[in-house]
Amino acid sequence: MINEQQVKQLFANYTSDYNPKDPKIALKIAHTYKVAENSKAIAESLGLSEEDVELAWLIGMLHDIGRFEQIKRYQTFSDAQSVDHAEFGADLLFKEPGLIKDYIETREYDNLIETAIREHNKYRISDKLDDRTKMFANIIRDADKIDIFRVQVEEPIEGIYGVPFECIKSQPLSDQVLEQVKAHTAVLRSTKISYLDYYVGHFSLAFELVYPYSRKLTIQQGYLAQLLTIQVEDENTQQKLDYIKKEIEDFLFA
Ligand SMILES: [Fe+2]
Repeated sequence: MINEQQVKQLFANYTSDYNPKDPKIALKIAHTYKVAENSKAIAESLGLSEEDVELAWLIGMLHDIGRFEQIKRYQTFSDAQSVDHAEFGADLLFKEPGLIKDYIETREYDNLIETAIREHNKYRISDKLDDRTKMFANIIRDADKIDIFRVQVEEPIEGIYGVPFECIKSQPLSDQVLEQVKAHTAVLRSTKISYLDYYVGHFSLAFELVYPYSRKLTIQQGYLAQLLTIQVEDENTQQKLDYIKKEIEDFLFA
């Protein structure tokens, strides 16, 4: 049903028009492959059919397709300052120019793929989805979050945040971030003030992982554990970070 090699080739051709040597583009290309692999592993852990595992992998390959045109048109990955990249990508695939037809021959799964992609970056998933669509949306959401931990470790911090790590570590941590960690939810973007809030906000994505295997994969890959070792100068802030570390570790290893 899905030819992995062909999909990878098409994706490589598509992204070659967006300067893959640009570190920002390279980051999104690497992220895409990793998310597709994570999606496949989660789908397998759920005992899905071979076709559904392929479908989960394909959604991973296409989930951030909007990122490339987003940066070309708006010179930013900030959705707030440009467009919602998930909606934008789904439009490129399913409206004009209808890129999906290149990636999979049958139109049978279009609704499922489109919805999973549109839902992948939302704070909360729509409550109107049927169980099957919801499952695929949750798979891509988990797979994406798991790779966000890797990106924070492996990619240069300055490239992601626009400021050096030292600057992030010298900032205060807002109380509302701590409150949301206490409540075991992801930190809402609108409540983040400092760079440290943004940095730590990523850790809290762990609370939103839906599938047990996603938590296992997070532990196995070890990136979140590495992020949690952050040390700052200010004693009060360090105490808050120690608390967050413990909350997340207790949750993950429970
Ligand atoms: Fe995304």
